[in-house]
Amino acid sequence: MGFSKKIINWYKKNYRKLPWRETKNPYYILVSEFMLQQTRVSKTIIKSYLNFIRKFPNLEKLAQAEEKDVLKKWEGLGYYSRAKYLHSFAKELKNGKNFFPVKYQELIKYKGIGPYTGAAIASICFHEIIPAIDGNACRVFSRYFGISNDITSTTTKNMLRVIVSKIMDFERPGIFNQAIMDLGSILCIPKNPKCLLCPVKNSCFSLRNGTVHKLPVKKIKKFIKHRFFYYIFIRDRNNNICLSKRLNKDIWKGLYDFPLIESKKNLSIHEIIDKICKIFQIVIYNTSIYKIEHKLTHQVLSIRFLSCETLQDLKKNKFFDNFFFIQPNQIVEYPFPRPIILFLKHEKMI
Ligand code: ADE
Repeated sequence: MGFSKKIINWYKKNYRKLPWRETKNPYYILVSEFMLQQTRVSKTIIKSYLNFIRKFPNLEKLAQAEEKDVLKKWEGLGYYSRAKYLHSFAKELKNGKNFFPVKYQELIKYKGIGPYTGAAIASICFHEIIPAIDGNACRVFSRYFGISNDITSTTTKNMLRVIVSKIMDFERPGIFNQAIMDLGSILCIPKNPKCLLCPVKNSCFSLRNGTVHKLPVKKIKKFIKHRFFYYIFIRDRNNNICLSKRLNKDIWKGLYDFPLIESKKNLSIHEIIDKICKIFQIVIYNTSIYKIEHKLTHQVLSIRFLSCETLQDLKKNKFFDNFFFIQPNQIVEYPFPRPIILFLKHEKMI
C-alpha cells in the first residue's frame, strides 16, 4: 500500500470530529481556515467558529457587517488582521465578481490567503491537487523524508510542496491534506511523537535513522521585545468609562482599550500615578492595581491596570479629547484585546 492510502486509512479511523468537517460550503471552510492560521484546534476555536458563523452565516452578512462587530466575534483569538482580511475578502467579493474563487491561484491573490490557506480551501472545497503545508505538515514531512533544511524558509516549503504534490492522493486531495494535519497533531507531535502508532512508520527516514527528535530544524527565534503598558481604567462622577480605539500601526489595531502610558522600563506605582496626574490633569482616588504578563509572538507585555475614579466630569476635560466615553452596560459591545477582557472579568464588568 502506498503512502497516501495508508495515511487516508488511518484518518478514516482516527480523524478529529470538527464542525467545519461536516460541510463543503466554501464560506464555512474559509472562516475555519482563517481562524486556524497560526493556531491549534481547541475548544475556544470551535466555540468562536460556531459563534462567528451564527452571527455571519454567509458572505453577504459578513460583507454588510461593521468592522467593530467582526472584531467582537474574533475577540480573544489574537492575530486580529486575520479577521480584517476575512472581512475585506467578503466585501471585495460582494462588490465585484460575486462568486467564490475556486482555484488556488485565484484564492492566493487575496490578502490573508497565503499558500497554506489557499491550498486548504482549494483542496477541501474544490478538489484541487495541491498540498497544504503548515507547521504540522512541515514536521511530518521533514521527519518522513529526513529534510534537515530550515523549515521556516520559503525555499524549503516550496521544495516540500513539489515533493508532496507527487505523493498525495489525487482523488481525495482535501482528505489527504486534513489527514496530514491530524497525523501532525495526534501522532507526529513535537515532543514524544507516537511513532509506534504511525501508519507510515516503516518508511519514515527519521525513525529508521534515529533522527525524529532532531527534526524539524527551525531557524533561531527572533528577538523578543519587552514592553511595559500602564492602562488607566477610569470612571468619572457620572460613571462614564473612558475608552480609546487603537488606530496606530501596532498590535491590536482596530480593537479598543483605555488611556495608556507605555514605558521602556518598569515604573513604580508612585511614578505612574504622578504621570497620570500630570498628563491628564486629574486627581484620582480609590486606585487598585491588576497585573498581567501577556506573551505575543515577538513581544512580552507587562501590563498594569490602574483602576481609579475621579470626581471630575471627564467629558469636559480637554486632556481627554482623544478618547470617548461609554456607560458600563455598553462595554459588551466593544472588541477588546485578551488582557483587557481578563481585566474586565476581574473587575466584574463583563
Ligand atoms: N488546521 C488548519 N486547518 C485545519 C483543518 N481544516 N482541520 C484541522 N486543523 C487545521
